[in-house]
Amino acid sequence: MTHSLLLEAALHAATEAGRILEQGYGTTFDIASKEGRHNLVTEYDLASESCIINVLQSYTPTAAVLTEESGEHAGSGEVTWVVDPLDGTVNFAHGIPIFCVSIAAVINGTIVAGVIHHPLQNETFTAVLGGGAFLNGEPLHVSKTPQIQDAILVTGFPYNVHENPRKCIDTFGRVLSLGIPIRRLGSAALDLAYVAAGRFDGYWEVELQPWDMAAGVLLVTEAGGTVTHYGRRAFSLGRDSILASNGRIHQQLTSIIENANA
Ligand code: IPD
Ligand code: CA
Ligand code: CA
Repeated sequence: MTHSLLLEAALHAATEAGRILEQGYGTTFDIASKEGRHNLVTEYDLASESCIINVLQSYTPTAAVLTEESGEHAGSGEVTWVVDPLDGTVNFAHGIPIFCVSIAAVINGTIVAGVIHHPLQNETFTAVLGGGAFLNGEPLHVSKTPQIQDAILVTGFPYNVHENPRKCIDTFGRVLSLGIPIRRLGSAALDLAYVAAGRFDGYWEVELQPWDMAAGVLLVTEAGGTVTHYGRRAFSLGRDSILASNGRIHQQLTSIIENANA
């Protein structure tokens, strides 16, 4: 299957799932806690996920699927779908209109297609490996901000933030003390999509999961940006830290984060 057909499948699944989330948003629904007290799952995470799996399997019956809520579904083909059916669950649960669906196709560890769909904003970010990044069909480019002193950044925190993993609280303080604008949207996938769109100049977070990052990483790189893990390590999909930027401020952001982690 070509990368464009994989994108078509992901787009179809994300659009259907987006409709489900839109219908559920602002209503009364079941909410449960997962491992951490604040790590929530709603009935709409689950409804979105089963819709996505059904649509993807209708296009690619042999593909494996890795999803946040139901884990690994084995396949016999070369494609693995990596799915976050609702990124920004805490926002969704509290009536904050910042959440999305994130779907990526991965072949031999390489992310080849990705969709991030923000239903309430009617914004759909798409990318295919080597084909550029788009928002509702219009080409996207990262910002041209040359130095961190002029940047607007976004970050997020894992559910165990109080344990200060990878000194994330110290890192945040250090970046904050630059005196530049910093946002915390509550959706890693949208954080990355907005770096791709040039709305943010950079983004960092620790302990992200593959489904939080996969589609967004392809968007950023296809929009001309840079993505690494902490320690200047080349990006590879797994549970890890992430640093994404317009490329121009990557070195500066990396140094600040590494100093905090020293
Ligand atoms: C979370 C969001 C949040 C990020 C967390 C993620 P979820 O995903 O992306 O912005 O800071 O690390 O776990 O639970 O809403 O799918
Ligand atoms: Ca997520
Ligand atoms: Ca999720």
